Amino acid sequence: MNPSISSVRALEILDSRGNPTVRVFVTLSNGLRAASSVPSGASTGEHEAVELRDGDGDRYGGKGVLRAVAHVNETIGPALLGKNPLRQAEIDRLLIDLDGTRNKGKLGANALLGASMAVARAAAKAASIPLYAYLGGPGAVRLPVPMMNILNGGMHADNSVDFQEFMVMPLGAPSFAEALRWGAETFHALKRILKGMSLATNVGDEGGFAPNLRSNEEACEVIVAAIEAAGYRPGKDIAIAMDPAASSFFREGEYDLAKSGQGRKSSFDMTALYEKWIGKYPIVSIEDGLAENDWEGFREQTEALGKKIQIVGDDLYVTNTTFIERGIQEKATNAVLIKLNQIGTVTETLEAIHLCRKAGWGFVVSHRSGETEDTFLADFAVAMGGGQIKTGSACRSERIAKYNRLLEIEAELGTTAVFESPFSAGRR
Ligand code: PGA
Ligand code: ZN
Repeated sequence: MNPSISSVRALEILDSRGNPTVRVFVTLSNGLRAASSVPSGASTGEHEAVELRDGDGDRYGGKGVLRAVAHVNETIGPALLGKNPLRQAEIDRLLIDLDGTRNKGKLGANALLGASMAVARAAAKAASIPLYAYLGGPGAVRLPVPMMNILNGGMHADNSVDFQEFMVMPLGAPSFAEALRWGAETFHALKRILKGMSLATNVGDEGGFAPNLRSNEEACEVIVAAIEAAGYRPGKDIAIAMDPAASSFFREGEYDLAKSGQGRKSSFDMTALYEKWIGKYPIVSIEDGLAENDWEGFREQTEALGKKIQIVGDDLYVTNTTFIERGIQEKATNAVLIKLNQIGTVTETLEAIHLCRKAGWGFVVSHRSGETEDTFLADFAVAMGGGQIKTGSACRSERIAKYNRLLEIEAELGTTAVFESPFSAGRR
């Protein structure tokens, strides 16, 4: 007989920025116990599900999550008692109905997601299989290519760079373990290069360096130099992916490159800028190159650049099937960033990925800039098999925890593990 859920409890813990977040513990009738912790973004999309915070200025500057914790303990927990943890879709439907709002504003997406992920993990334990195999089935053998965010700017760093993330993607590596090594060696080479330029080597929220460069473009230059200095071929072995997170510098209808002092630009100018860079640097993917409501701009950008590179929507879609459906219809991008806490349950995240697959689009499973030591995301990426994960640089333990879990999974899969570029069959 399947075990049932016998207790669901939550705890207020801290994330990697020292801000409170929710951890949920699920206990089953057979004594098995599992926990999961919820991440938190900084450059959040306007249409994301609500992250419930207390707003009590006496605690953590209003960022406490005791209300979300209470919702788990008093409302979600009692409703899940006696339920079969292996019925994830049913559990998540119950959570969505319990909340009853469109944006999960009543109980909080942080409360719901903590419960949803902890139930999935408990179910995997009950089934005596690893989480990736439980969520992805026997075909879950593909390790993702990491997009390693080695240079931070935007809202993730106090420096002169407007664009939030410059990532290296070791597409040419033969395995995940080698890809991670190539990326880490490039990270260390970049440190030496920045030091040599007398620039700071302190890191931003996702573990990338945050130097005061003279321009946004200089970020691409130093990264290409780092790839070469580490002994790899830019483009062939290691490519560049970017997330400008353009919603965060979109002001009054224009893109305001204020941090670097490079002026204001139109949507058209931004796409022209990216096009120029794609001609000069080995860029394979641009996420949120435009702001979240600039649908027209995204359509034009995808028409102009979508055959050459991956165009990813993050703030544009917020992992919400309603927005993704619109994007597919309008050909607004050709890929989607997937963040569990933007939508609030595991099942809705699976639905978002299902839409991407149906459209033949790529998808990138992603962390948030505020993370915890939870490694759910690593298993989730292998389970979904999309071949791409965004989980930070080669330092900061909340990022490395996911990479280390992926190393474990690859070792566990042994010769059945698959590692390949998500672009080799198509665009590049
Ligand atoms: P966030 O940044 O977690 O601060 O939203 C990540 C991203 O924009 O992809
Ligand atoms: Zn993003």
